[in-house]
Amino acid sequence: MLNNIGLIGLSTMGGNLSRNIANKGYKISVYNRTYKKTTDLLDISSKLDSAETRKNIIGYENLKDFVESLELPRKVILLVKSGDPVDEILVELKPLLSSLDIVIDAGNSNWQDTITREIILEDCIDFEDELNDDEEMVLDQKTIYFLGCGISGGAEGALNGPSIMLSGHKESCDAVMPILQAIAAKDFEGNPCVTNFGENPAGHFVKMVHNGIEYALMQGIAEVYTILKTTGLDLTSIKQVFEELNTGNNHSYLLDITTKILDTKDNLSSDFLINKIKQVSDSKGTGKWSVEAALELEVSVPNIFSALNARITSKDLNNFIVEKISADIAELDFEVAELNNLLQLIFLTSYIQGLELLLAAETNYGWGIKIEEVLRVWQGGCIIRSKWLEYLPKLLSDKLNYTSVLKELLASSLISQSKLLALNLPVIASSIGYLKDLLYNQTGQSLIQAQRDYFGQHGFERIDKEGSFSGGWNR
Ligand code: 6PG
Repeated sequence: MLNNIGLIGLSTMGGNLSRNIANKGYKISVYNRTYKKTTDLLDISSKLDSAETRKNIIGYENLKDFVESLELPRKVILLVKSGDPVDEILVELKPLLSSLDIVIDAGNSNWQDTITREIILEDCIDFEDELNDDEEMVLDQKTIYFLGCGISGGAEGALNGPSIMLSGHKESCDAVMPILQAIAAKDFEGNPCVTNFGENPAGHFVKMVHNGIEYALMQGIAEVYTILKTTGLDLTSIKQVFEELNTGNNHSYLLDITTKILDTKDNLSSDFLINKIKQVSDSKGTGKWSVEAALELEVSVPNIFSALNARITSKDLNNFIVEKISADIAELDFEVAELNNLLQLIFLTSYIQGLELLLAAETNYGWGIKIEEVLRVWQGGCIIRSKWLEYLPKLLSDKLNYTSVLKELLASSLISQSKLLALNLPVIASSIGYLKDLLYNQTGQSLIQAQRDYFGQHGFERIDKEGSFSGGWNR
């Protein structure tokens, strides 16, 4: 009997997703370039899963055998590193597949690559020729459907229920949907956190924006940690403050894991593990792509940009920054309620910036992304899940209608009079700047238009008359 689905790439995410699929009663073929990872997965499954689940995972050493083990149309999930490894496996895989088979790229692939890969695979272009930019492209006769699929939730989510953002050929999405629904996390109403967002590359684009927001929230939380740490509080007390902060709308996965991280002791010393970690943060691209997309679509995403910059500067300037901030914070006194409001501001403005980016993408590209669905599939399983995702849909009409909420937040004395703003920590400062820009950016822009017209006759519009005007300046 043939197996229901296949998965290639058995690192932790791929291994856990396979076990999740097997656990839901589907027979899954698994393959990894290095066979050892396949046998490791089978061992882990023997130890940790039920006999039934273990029996549903079938490992293959050879890619051809793996492909031939699958029922038609074949459904193959790729969970390999984004970038070249995806193209490399597609080059190997395509000759073995049949027309109408389905490949689901579940990695954090760049959305522009997803567009290219779909064209190559669906329009019967020989993959290697396209990649080599060969002028004489050979058309083969196969149409392979290529679905872009963002998966969020890390290793734990992959095993117990991730949030899944899918896109591509509609009938192929429908064909894989029952399996994805079975393995996905649940939203606040108990429905599976998976949606077909429309045409490619919507799935990977939504996942990229999810990660952009993830960068902003992580940096915002890290800034609150910086404030607390540099006041001299011990880690146990800081953890308690984070527990207090992890309530109301801010109740979130990222604050949950923060409290657990702050409670973890190092194996190699008597200190806490967090104190042993170098102050340098990495990134794999999704934050940068979010900023690039935002620039292209002319959407303002200062929180994401600041969070990305903070990771970049951590590589050179770190020691200087820590010393400087310690000196500044030592002179401040503040309350937990202030931090709570600042965190609210960070969460809200970060989500809004991401949603504005998605709205702009939808307006420009028309892939079919529905914001209500974005907010729904992010309710469970994903890294940026929080209580805000219950509240944000209420702010939705046909466009995001949040100005009054933002005004209220900005007016709260806990924010407007917070001395912590003077520290200019990147994401806190960006949130405030973004808010002020949104609410009050109506005075300076006339001067900018005037200057543009003064030196370059670029023209301006008047508030009292239709049309384009120029000149009339004192010289
Ligand atoms: C998720 C995460 C996941 C991964 C990030 C890390 O939603 O499960 O976003 O995809 O942990 O991509 O990204 P950086 O390495 O860029 O921080």
